[in-house]
Amino acid sequence: MKRRTLLQAGAAGLTPAASITLAGAAHTGREVLALTQGWRFHDGDIPFPKILGHGWTYGSAKAGNAQGAAAPDYDDSDWPLVNLPHDFAASQPIEQAANVAQGYRRRGMAWYRQSIRFEPEDRGRHLELQIDGAATHATVWFNGTLVHHNFSGYNEMAIDLTPYATFGDALNTLVVRVDAVAMEGWWYEGAGLYREVRIVKRAATHIVTDGVFAHPVKRPEGWVIPIEVTVATLADKTQPVTVECELQDARGSHAKASVRAQVPLLRQAVAKLQIKHDKPELWSPASPHLYRVVTRVLQGGQVLDETTTPCGFRTQHFDADRGFFLNGQPLKIQGVCIHQDHAGVGVAVPPALIDFRLRRLKELGCNAIRASHNAQDRAFMDACDRLGFLVMAENRLFNPSPQYVKQQLKWLVRRDRNHPCVFMWSVFNEEPMQGTEGGYEMVRRMREVVRDLDTSRPVTAAMNDGLFTPLNVSHALDVLGFNYQQDQYDAVHKARPKLPLMSSEDTSAFMLRGYYGPRDDKRHLIPSYDDDAADWGATHRKAWKAIAERPFIAGGFVWTGFDYHGEPTPYEWPSNSSVFGIMDLCGFEKTAFHIHQAQWVHDRPVLALAPHWNWPGREGQPVKVMVCSNLDEVGLELNGRLLGRQSVDRWTMNHWQVPYEAGTLRALGWKAGRLVAKAQVETVGPPTALRLVADRSSLRGDGVDVVPVRVEAIDAQGRAHPLASSMVQFRIEGGEIIGLGNGDSNSTEPEKGDRRSLFHGLAQVIVRSTAGGTGELKLSAAAEGLQGTSISLALTPAAAPRQQATGTSVQLLQWWQRAPQQATAPDPQLQPPPQDMNSWQGFQAGGLLPAATAPGYVLCAINHTPYSRIRREGGWVEALSVTGRCEVYSNGTLLGRKTEAASAPLRLRLPPGEGQRRLAFVFQVEAGEKVGLGGVVRVRV
Ligand code: GAL
Repeated sequence: MKRRTLLQAGAAGLTPAASITLAGAAHTGREVLALTQGWRFHDGDIPFPKILGHGWTYGSAKAGNAQGAAAPDYDDSDWPLVNLPHDFAASQPIEQAANVAQGYRRRGMAWYRQSIRFEPEDRGRHLELQIDGAATHATVWFNGTLVHHNFSGYNEMAIDLTPYATFGDALNTLVVRVDAVAMEGWWYEGAGLYREVRIVKRAATHIVTDGVFAHPVKRPEGWVIPIEVTVATLADKTQPVTVECELQDARGSHAKASVRAQVPLLRQAVAKLQIKHDKPELWSPASPHLYRVVTRVLQGGQVLDETTTPCGFRTQHFDADRGFFLNGQPLKIQGVCIHQDHAGVGVAVPPALIDFRLRRLKELGCNAIRASHNAQDRAFMDACDRLGFLVMAENRLFNPSPQYVKQQLKWLVRRDRNHPCVFMWSVFNEEPMQGTEGGYEMVRRMREVVRDLDTSRPVTAAMNDGLFTPLNVSHALDVLGFNYQQDQYDAVHKARPKLPLMSSEDTSAFMLRGYYGPRDDKRHLIPSYDDDAADWGATHRKAWKAIAERPFIAGGFVWTGFDYHGEPTPYEWPSNSSVFGIMDLCGFEKTAFHIHQAQWVHDRPVLALAPHWNWPGREGQPVKVMVCSNLDEVGLELNGRLLGRQSVDRWTMNHWQVPYEAGTLRALGWKAGRLVAKAQVETVGPPTALRLVADRSSLRGDGVDVVPVRVEAIDAQGRAHPLASSMVQFRIEGGEIIGLGNGDSNSTEPEKGDRRSLFHGLAQVIVRSTAGGTGELKLSAAAEGLQGTSISLALTPAAAPRQQATGTSVQLLQWWQRAPQQATAPDPQLQPPPQDMNSWQGFQAGGLLPAATAPGYVLCAINHTPYSRIRREGGWVEALSVTGRCEVYSNGTLLGRKTEAASAPLRLRLPPGEGQRRLAFVFQVEAGEKVGLGGVVRVRV
């Protein structure tokens, strides 16, 4: 009994008997395969069964025997299919009963299941599952064995599947249980498999994940890249290999080096080598020149594995009096803090949308980003390298315990230390222990963890208190980050003159995009004039002034670049997103955008004015006008009349009180006495039509690329109306809408679907191509009383990312019983006689039965209860290799027959119906003939 339970529960582990050769397996080279399509998803928890009885208990304690929804043969046939990235909180309604901090979105538990097919050629390769992010806690099972526990929604998981994998027709079952009841932040964190998931197949001897460290350093004798390559092997003896590195950029190859290494069995070896470059082009935010290091592992001249690592040449240092220096030049950090979410998609932000957000920040004149308060997506780091942003990389949980450090801090530094964009490691944000001896001890340890892996960037932390206690975390930091506390800058600099200082977070000012009326605490409206800030913060202008005026403050990070879901401040329900952003949730600019441009952009004229000029009923009354510019002088004209000219004040911006009169309000900007810029707002007529403006005119037809489209209402002259609020209905062909937004922090409209109202004249639709898309993607918009419109985006043919082969819900039928051979055709419903434990024999599908001694009939049968969808709709019995002539019955009804003896697959329709079935193969045999079920037998939808 005990043994039987064990065997049955382990049924998915169908390992063919062939011996496994690891060393020198035929397959070399690396394959990276997306695992993003067709996950079976269950919203909510599925409790584990209450295990009773000794046999069951004994069996459930064994590898491969996970129970409940973690079991390989769990019935998931009715689960809906989802594609990744998938944030299941983003589809939840915004409801008051949910947590305000998380944007009033219900969180909770969920299960994801996937069937993976590895090919026989994959045998002997290293098979790794990479989950880039799962919010929040995750448990992962593979073929019924628990293979990973993860405790943060922000780190990646790299899970070795090799020991448990099966090959060929026996599919592998991957199960992820996500616990998004758990939270790590006080902002919207999303839920589920919200980043990419992939399978990476490498040779048995290979470079481990994030196993190359190649960050250039400038030594007195010139630039060198000290490189460390970690190679592992699954082979059964030490592997001699050559590790080769090549420095390349868009222009070609620049230098090469190689070294020999011995990789001991099932262990890792670190190969060290160096590459020199006499005159590299330097990386900086203004000129982000990128190189790459291509690393290969070779054996006998054959490339076993190859990987590419980003690389940029630059120096950096902090000076306690003069701030930050990049490549020997002072560079004031003009930074923003961001969270990772965006309108419509929650935290499942595709790379093209990350790119869009960063391009918006580039336009702003921002040169640095604080990844507050957690690791970001790989695509984000790559884009920061490419577009030129310095990144303050941040660890989420303040905890030096080995488990946390391994999964989070070490992982973060190992993953990101090659990125030229990373210039600081932050170990925490605002931790209550910051002023204590305990906090100091924790930081001291965490700093050493970082320094073991990278000594080229300083370790910092974002402190909002405890600055003057006798022993506080700043005593263990390389750079002190101030969160707010701007009135302490001078005192801390005086008390700690050798400690470099920086504002890790400041501002926290409030602005509702497009709103310029009076502050209205009842309706949760805060004007966009930069007059309102949190008690602990300051307006954009004041916060930057405090930083800009002090050379010893290396720069700052505005809270925040974009509004984000959750943490609505200063109001709560129905407000559900923050209004701290320089831009709103969609990336539409607020007045803060122009303020920072005026302060941060140095290489082109900036001139902008606020508010809009539609104030019917306010004729003759003064309207406050703000002009933002980086020029010398600005002037204002109303309907052609000059209202005045002022010297530009880049700290406060320039202001006028203008008695309202419909028409054109124009700002003029002079540089060195020359008129170089004009900007204007106009009184526009009533909206008559809709307009769609795509961020790009084409997108790749790969099912991954996305484009945000701006929706506006225009008047008869084609001018956008600043106050339009129509509900807009969308229709899409050749693609799909993945989310919608309008930047209104008080709106509880869903962000999924096909309709969204304009807020202060604007909304955003995010469209995605479908895989294999060609021709055009067409988006149409309609609204009551307005002329509809549509745009077409060209779909450029592009291969979808290569996907790991997967399968549908499959029930494997493994453990069969065989009746003693009969002389005449037996009843297919034949059962072993009661109490007879001996005359029938059990066997496992996957081989042939012993040769028949005489002509006759052999009945092989199994009991099974089809999955619910098959019980409802019917399904298929698939026997992938049947040898011999036979008839196949289900509950005594003939499903089909095989008339040839040679082995062949059988695929037979299984009718719907409730309850348990008995599937029987009745073979007709000749003396000496071998028949049987040589391959997998399964029932599938
Ligand atoms: C800071 C905190 C941020 C955010 C901000 C809002 O104290 O670090 O995460 O909460 O306040 O002003």
